[in-house]
Amino acid sequence: MLLAAAYFGKAMLGLADPAMAVPYDKEMRDVSQSDKDSGLILGIESSCDETAAAVVRGGTEALSNVVASQMNLHANYGGVVPELASREHLRNVVPVVRAAVEQAGISLKEVDAIAVTEGPGLAGALLVGITYAKALSFGLGKPLIGVNHLEGHIHAVLMEARQRSENPMELPLLALVVSGGHTHLYLAENRQDLTEQKEGGLWRYRNVGRTVDDAAGEAYDKVAKLLGLGYPGGPWIDALSRRGDPQAVPFRFAQIKPRPHRDGVSLPNKKAQSQPSGPSFDFSFSGIKTAVLRYVETNQMRESVEARRKALAAHPEWRPGSEEAAALCDQKTLDLIASFQHAVVGNLMRQAFAGAESYGARGLVVSGGVAANSELRRRFQAEADKRGLPVAFPSLALSTDNAAMIAAAAWSKFVSGEFAPETLGATPQLRLGN
Ligand code: KG4
Ligand code: ZN
Repeated sequence: MLLAAAYFGKAMLGLADPAMAVPYDKEMRDVSQSDKDSGLILGIESSCDETAAAVVRGGTEALSNVVASQMNLHANYGGVVPELASREHLRNVVPVVRAAVEQAGISLKEVDAIAVTEGPGLAGALLVGITYAKALSFGLGKPLIGVNHLEGHIHAVLMEARQRSENPMELPLLALVVSGGHTHLYLAENRQDLTEQKEGGLWRYRNVGRTVDDAAGEAYDKVAKLLGLGYPGGPWIDALSRRGDPQAVPFRFAQIKPRPHRDGVSLPNKKAQSQPSGPSFDFSFSGIKTAVLRYVETNQMRESVEARRKALAAHPEWRPGSEEAAALCDQKTLDLIASFQHAVVGNLMRQAFAGAESYGARGLVVSGGVAANSELRRRFQAEADKRGLPVAFPSLALSTDNAAMIAAAAWSKFVSGEFAPETLGATPQLRLGN
């Protein structure tokens, strides 16, 4: 904890680890068969506003999954305040890890590796988790594994699919990661079939779509804010949409033409630059946010927005699905909310299914906070059924940020002996794949 505090202090002064944002060479080490057999990975996640820790066995079985959410703290500001987030992570990381280990019914010494989110995310927030993970790795003499948060979201779904031991999803998969900070489409492949996942196998990702401006979750949060609803906006809009007419306001998305795939620089592995090209299926969500704002102004809704904001501030106990919250919205507002959601989900669907078809994906995975959305799940499932394309979502608990997904994504790296060096730093803009 002291170490974490010292580290955090440096980050706040802009004197963070010089290794920050510098790509590192992964250390390859052999993993003994007995370690693979017990396969207990402690995952730590602190990239945004959730401090989370979990113990996952063999990349499949979550023995514990503890999340300390800072939602109420940031709700006062209508968004995440980075400095407050870092401070809360510092306060929470030790008890959260302790709780995860206790709930798993193991002792820290039994853990075989420590996995931690190295990016993308808030620099100061990431550093708290990374520094504590490093201290544990050093103290316990156990390997450290750096995990990309976005890869974690994808593996939340794959882990649960394996848990249910359904027929494994066939590869390649198209993964839509749709959260507060990201809206990305990845084509995911593994050198081995998912049935062989006990043995790991290295995953390859290709970024075939991304938002050119706001993330979908960000649009939900901003629209909720401008309508005087609570933070985070997703659950509010999700719940209130059920009471409105989704066709009432015809929002239109600008068509972003599929562009030829431009090779990006993949951190931390700069070598993997030349990939085959193909079309990209991009998103844009800032236009719809502006359209909602314009609708509010031209329809003289400002006063009712302010009244709602005040009422909710006076009653922080009113939850998104409550009758009290719904009673604060007239039919015009409910119709606007339902139309916004209908348009956003429609746009996500169009790009995801077009991408899946274009790249010959054998299955679709939708993950990240927005994947908790009820209309999104219903419509993606219906369209996938129509096309005969398997689709999978995480359970609600694993849709939003958690550490079980970090430990699950670390599994293939653990089995392959792909570990992070002691110099592991935070990479706020870390990309996944090429
Ligand atoms: O994955 P996540 O927990 O954190 C990030 O990595 O960003 O995603 C948080 C985002 C927020 O923007 C929140 O409004 C959105 O997920 N969200 C939802 C729902 N629940 C959370 N969006 C739509 N419908 C929901 N039910
Ligand atoms: Zn996330």
